[in-house]
Amino acid sequence: MEGKLSVKNLTGIQDLTVDDINLIFTTADTFKDVINRPIKKVPSLRDVTIANLFFENSTRTRLSFELAQKRLSADVISFSASSSSVSKGETLIDTVNNILAMKVDMIVMRHPNAGAALFLSQNVKAQIINAGDGAHEHPTQALLDAYSIREKLGKVKGKRVVIVGDILHSRVALSNIFCLQKLGAEVMVCGPTTLIPKYINALGVRVEHDLRKALEWCDIANMLRIQLERQDIKYFPSLREYTMMYGINKALLNSLKKRITIMHPGPVNRGVEITSDVADSDQSIILDQVENGVAIRMAVMYLLAGQKG
Ligand code: CP
Repeated sequence: MEGKLSVKNLTGIQDLTVDDINLIFTTADTFKDVINRPIKKVPSLRDVTIANLFFENSTRTRLSFELAQKRLSADVISFSASSSSVSKGETLIDTVNNILAMKVDMIVMRHPNAGAALFLSQNVKAQIINAGDGAHEHPTQALLDAYSIREKLGKVKGKRVVIVGDILHSRVALSNIFCLQKLGAEVMVCGPTTLIPKYINALGVRVEHDLRKALEWCDIANMLRIQLERQDIKYFPSLREYTMMYGINKALLNSLKKRITIMHPGPVNRGVEITSDVADSDQSIILDQVENGVAIRMAVMYLLAGQKG
């Protein structure tokens, strides 16, 4: 595999060039072949030690990074904030410097605070990958989402993608907007006014409050979860009303003039933003996204490891 990234850390999609994203995709193509072979392991990161630091809950991202690291033959240690000495008052930098003293090369971190990954990259001597920082960015999710669109529809350029739901609290939305626009897709956001951030117009995306109109416009609908854990006030009267206005069900999907592709980053709240018959339908690529996440994360870690020094 040829080529180098323009960055030493992956703190956000904003820092990546189009060439970086395409290099990650072509590298992920190779790793996708690897993980579908009977022997799924390659020795690419045999001398690399990676620590996964998760200060927030995760299923997909954490397991996907761990599996990607194991497929690349890296040495892996994992850490959850709830079982660590962070609860005794240790700072983030002290925690990470103690981990680095054990000769760790790369840190994968999920943190509730926006900017935590960038802060770490500026203050410790290790490569940092952002696995989600508050409501800011989730770069590997956006990469696997765009990669899944490329796989399903042949290309991303010119495709119309609507991101539906809680845009205000979503790092997935922001990273997807940056990534899809860099790759030449048209992006729309759809949701109640209270869940669309005021700065959205500055990002050059369309805004639509009518779900049917948004679905008629798009090729792909990325349905987001309502992030109740990040909501300090009430943004809509009830989940039931939200579902009536912004939930997708099979009757709505089947009534559209064209066949669209359904995505969801997970975790899915079945019956809220998406019904089971849509999530499990042949128009949904939700589990393809999860499969592609391993190949994308293998590609990101492989390419970053090549940047060390
Ligand atoms: N998509 C995503 O970030 O899922 P997890 O919170 O389970 O990692």
